[in-house]
Amino acid sequence: MDKNDLSIETRLAHAGLDPWENEGIPNIPVYHASTVLKKTNHDAKNSDVKTGASGKYDYGRTGTPTSNALETALASIYGMDGAIITSSGLSALTTVMLAFAKQNGHMLVSDSVYSSGRRYLTQTIPRFGVEVEFFNPRISGTDLAKLIKPNTTLIHLETPGSLTFELHDLPALTSVARDLGVPTLLDNTWATALGLDCSALGVDIVAEAITKYVGGHSDLMMGAIVANEPLFTQVQNEARQLGQCAGPDDVYLAMRGLHTLHLRLERSMNSSIIVANWLKQQPEVLKVFHPALTDHPDHEIFKRDFKTGAGLFAFQLSPSESTSPDTLIDNLKLFGKGASWGGFESLVQEAQIENNRSLEYPREGTLIRLAIGAEDPNDLVRDLENGFNEMRHEAMSLDLS
Ligand SMILES: Cc1ncc(COP(=O)(O)O)c(C=O)c1O
Repeated sequence: MDKNDLSIETRLAHAGLDPWENEGIPNIPVYHASTVLKKTNHDAKNSDVKTGASGKYDYGRTGTPTSNALETALASIYGMDGAIITSSGLSALTTVMLAFAKQNGHMLVSDSVYSSGRRYLTQTIPRFGVEVEFFNPRISGTDLAKLIKPNTTLIHLETPGSLTFELHDLPALTSVARDLGVPTLLDNTWATALGLDCSALGVDIVAEAITKYVGGHSDLMMGAIVANEPLFTQVQNEARQLGQCAGPDDVYLAMRGLHTLHLRLERSMNSSIIVANWLKQQPEVLKVFHPALTDHPDHEIFKRDFKTGAGLFAFQLSPSESTSPDTLIDNLKLFGKGASWGGFESLVQEAQIENNRSLEYPREGTLIRLAIGAEDPNDLVRDLENGFNEMRHEAMSLDLS
C-alpha cells in the first residue's frame, strides 16, 4: 500500500513508528542521551550526522532515535521534506525569524501573530538592522505585493490570528510571496497538519507549538519547524547553531499525543461550536470570533482552505459599566483560569490586545478567549450560564444602587 494514498488520520496512527527496529514494540524507545560513543577515534573524528558518516547520531543535542521518530512523523503528516523539534513553540518561531534576519533587511508580519513571537520581532530582530513592518491579516495578495521590497527576507503569517481569529487568504498571499521570491513562515498551531494542508496552500515553512494540540495534555513544552528543501536545511542549521532540542520524555509524550490528535481535535472543535452558538444568544455578547461559525467574516475562506478547525475561540462582551468580566470568569468552575490551550481541560482567559497590535484595532468591549477541552460541552454551557447569571445579578444590584 502506498503511504501517500493513506488519509492523514491513518498516517497519524502509524507515523514515526518502526516496531521491527524495536523488538516488535510499537511505541518509540526513550533514549536518554548526551554522549553517543563511537568505536574508534577515526569514527569519532569523522562523525557527521548529516551524511551519516560513523552513524546517524553523534550527540544528544543533534538528535537521537527518539527525536528522530517525532521529526519523521511530523514531516510525514505535513507532507514536507523535514521537521526539527525545538524547546518550545516560541523557539520554533524565533529560530526561523533569526534564520532569515539579514542586515538591512525587511520582514513583513501579520498584525495578529502570537504576542511573544511579535515581541521578538519588535525587540530583538531590529537589533540586526532589520525593519519589521506589520500588515492587516485580511490583506489581499495585490496589497501584500505592494509591501514586498527587494530586501524583504520573510513574511510571517498566522491563521487564524491570535486572539482576534481573522483568516488569511493564504493561497493569494503565498503565491505573491513565491512569485517575488520571499519565503513565508506560517504559525499553524491552531489548525495543525490536520486542518491545513500547508504545502498545498503554498506555505514554505510551518512552525507549530507542539505544546498545544499535539501534546494535548498540558504537560509539555515543545515546538516544531517543518519545511521543504532547500529552506529546511537553512532553518535546521540555524536550529542546530542555537542548540535547539527537546528532552526525550517530552518527545515521547508528544509522539503519544500525535497518535490521537485527530480524535481530540475533532472533539474540541465540535464542542467549541456548541459553546460558541450558545454564547451568540447571550444579550451581553457582542461578537463571537470562531472561523467555523457561518457568520464569521472569513467563513468562506475557512470552508475553502481548512479541512477541520479547532476549539480555541474568543468572544467580546458588550461594553458596559455594570457587566464585570471578573465576575463572569471568577464564577466559572470548569474553565481553568490560565494561559495556553490545546489540553484536555477547558481554559478561559481575558485577552489583552492593547500591546499586541500595531495597526488600529477597534476596541469595543472585553475580549475573552476560551479553549475548549474534552469535557461534555453541555456541562461547559451550564458553567458559562452560571457565570453569566452571576454577572447579571451583580449588574442588576449595581443598577439598583
Ligand atoms: C499561536 C501560538 N503560537 C506559538 C505559541 C508559543 O508556544 P509555546 O508556549 O510552546 O512557546 C503560542 C503559545 O501560546 C501560541 O498561542
